Amino acid sequence: MSESFRQLLRSLPDFPESLPDFDPEQAHADPAELFRQWLAEALDAEVPQPNACSLATADNLGRPSSRMLILKDIDDDGWHFATSRNSRKGRELSSNPHAALNFFWPQQGRQVRVAGDVMALSAEASAADWAARPGADGTQNPGWQLYALRPRELEFWQARHDRQHIRHRYGAR
Ligand SMILES: Cc1cc2nc3c(=O)[nH]c(=O)nc-3n(C[C@H](O)[C@H](O)[C@H](O)COP(=O)(O)O)c2cc1C
Repeated sequence: MSESFRQLLRSLPDFPESLPDFDPEQAHADPAELFRQWLAEALDAEVPQPNACSLATADNLGRPSSRMLILKDIDDDGWHFATSRNSRKGRELSSNPHAALNFFWPQQGRQVRVAGDVMALSAEASAADWAARPGADGTQNPGWQLYALRPRELEFWQARHDRQHIRHRYGAR
């Protein structure tokens, strides 16, 4: 059982035959602009839910947890996401406001990593986000919170078949 599972895992295909080009020399100096460009290309490549990413948080002992979320916006405050303030991630962010996002677009062999400090945005912005959710029925949710992660470091990663994968970094490291 475990041997065949191991074989199954090893036999799965990795990246598709055709991968997009990425020349870091030509990349926009503003990572938010590069992200917008990559998101548009992901939509063209029919990546499902390219606005979905994992959000990693940690408790005050440094024990990590992660889950998927939807990116809501990028502006001068940072990269926006929304969740319940009373959720595990909401509680972890209130005691340890450092987090990391990770996008993965398999059809293109692309990954985008973003890490930084998180701040809670206004009650008005949070209520507007709640009201704009698909299936919103006009009810309010006082526990709903919009957050912005201000990037300290970002990495845009492009797979290549020659294994010379490209890592294009902004910020620390
Ligand atoms: C693709 C996808 C998108 C999701 N988007 C959100 C979201 O935007 N906000 C949210 O609170 N939960 C979202 N979830 C659910 C979370 O992954 C998670 O189960 C939930 O928020 C509870 O997480 P926690 O207990 O770690 O706080 C999404 C799940 C998936 C699979």
